[in-house]
Amino acid sequence: MPKTINVLFLAAEADPFVKVGGLGDVAGSLPRALRALSNDDVKLDVRLVLPYHPVVKADDLKPLGMFSIPRGDSEVGVEAFESTLNGMPVYFINGDPIRANGSVYSLDSKLDAEKYTFFSLAALALQSQINWQADVVHANDWHTALSVYGSLTKRWEEGAKHVAGVITLHNLPFMGPDISAILEGYGIKLAQTDLPDWARVMPLPLGLWASDAIVAVSPTYGSEILTHEYGCGLGEFLQIRRETISGVLNGIDVASFNPADDTALGVNFDIDSLEKRAANKGLLQDRLGLKRDPEIPLLAIVSRMDVQKGVDLAFTALKSMKSVDFQAIILGTGDPKLEEAARSLNNLFPEKIKVELRYDAGLARQIYAGADMLLMPSRYEPCGLSQMIAMRYGCVPVVRAAGGLNDTVKHNETGFVFQKAHHMSLMAAVKAGIKAFSDKDQWKKLQQAGMAQDFSWENSARKYLELYQSLVK
Ligand code: GLC
Repeated sequence: MPKTINVLFLAAEADPFVKVGGLGDVAGSLPRALRALSNDDVKLDVRLVLPYHPVVKADDLKPLGMFSIPRGDSEVGVEAFESTLNGMPVYFINGDPIRANGSVYSLDSKLDAEKYTFFSLAALALQSQINWQADVVHANDWHTALSVYGSLTKRWEEGAKHVAGVITLHNLPFMGPDISAILEGYGIKLAQTDLPDWARVMPLPLGLWASDAIVAVSPTYGSEILTHEYGCGLGEFLQIRRETISGVLNGIDVASFNPADDTALGVNFDIDSLEKRAANKGLLQDRLGLKRDPEIPLLAIVSRMDVQKGVDLAFTALKSMKSVDFQAIILGTGDPKLEEAARSLNNLFPEKIKVELRYDAGLARQIYAGADMLLMPSRYEPCGLSQMIAMRYGCVPVVRAAGGLNDTVKHNETGFVFQKAHHMSLMAAVKAGIKAFSDKDQWKKLQQAGMAQDFSWENSARKYLELYQSLVK
């Protein structure tokens, strides 16, 4: 009989039910990759639980009934549903604090504080409703971190059995709002911790403090967070915990992101039929209203418009490349100031720079399959998924040596890597890329080396499995 490890996997978003960013990709694929590792020795019963945001799309929801969790002198109602994703049970939690907020993340931090505190605690309470208890509570980012803290304080109060707490860090700077009053309402005390005072009222630091293991989404990010520069004020605390911190690179869904059968593409291709890729560049140039020309290097930015992503550095670099022959496409939404900057770049160079300020998964795939280079000058990048997808589609990444970018792109081998978060450094790397592009043999080598990389989930999921095993021993 294989030993079963029960894992309650919590996230604010998970593809295909609800997705805002990279967290959604990871939470939609990692739990399934983990279940697929089950073998004769160990069975991983990973179950996903999500808030039933009003924007969630899910079919065949089975109601699991109502229960409540105590707050103050009364109670808050919880409504739970079950669905499945390739055989994996997926639970949805609903209740007033979740209904109160239309979007996944609100600009009103008070709404988010109420919502995610409620969700984290209700998800724990769900377990006894379904007669199933986790051996590992695995949270992601600040939104669900209180489940790890709540699971620990429950053990103190009720002498419940040891449940391991794991937090995966996708984005350390977002620690969540002050939830001390809300927690008190639910009857949960703030512990005496070795956290800085400002941090001990926030969900992410409390969760990290209560966790048995912290996983950063890349090895480089795992060491960066220990530093003053990237530690966001928790560097020293994390230093003390360093034995429990590891970095596991995210994978991508290689079945979905496959240029050989991606239906969003005009022409499918693979590593052995790379010559077919050129047709996609032509189609993309037509679609964007750029001059159809295989010899002009086509640069791309597919990104949230966010200072984290360094898109402003890319805009400045492109602006300074007046005398260079290139085309560029910028796709994404986000910060209105950055969107405005993108628009003005388009106005400045209407012939060579095109801007699409929206989220468009289909166009993104056509860009990966048709553009020559993807620019990712991130100021910090816990993992980054686009550079991996780009490489799989023969689009050569130009990246800053931060976090997961540093772990996935090899300079002059699979892409171009620069060090300083400055537009001049990016520009030098882009120019090196353009020079390489003019040498057809060299370029093909770069493309094929990128396409040959294995970014599937399997290796990474195995590392999580080993971690779970070490925690439940
Ligand atoms: C966050 C990070 C990104 C990472 C993603 C998934 O969005 O900013 O670097 O790839 O989470 O872990």
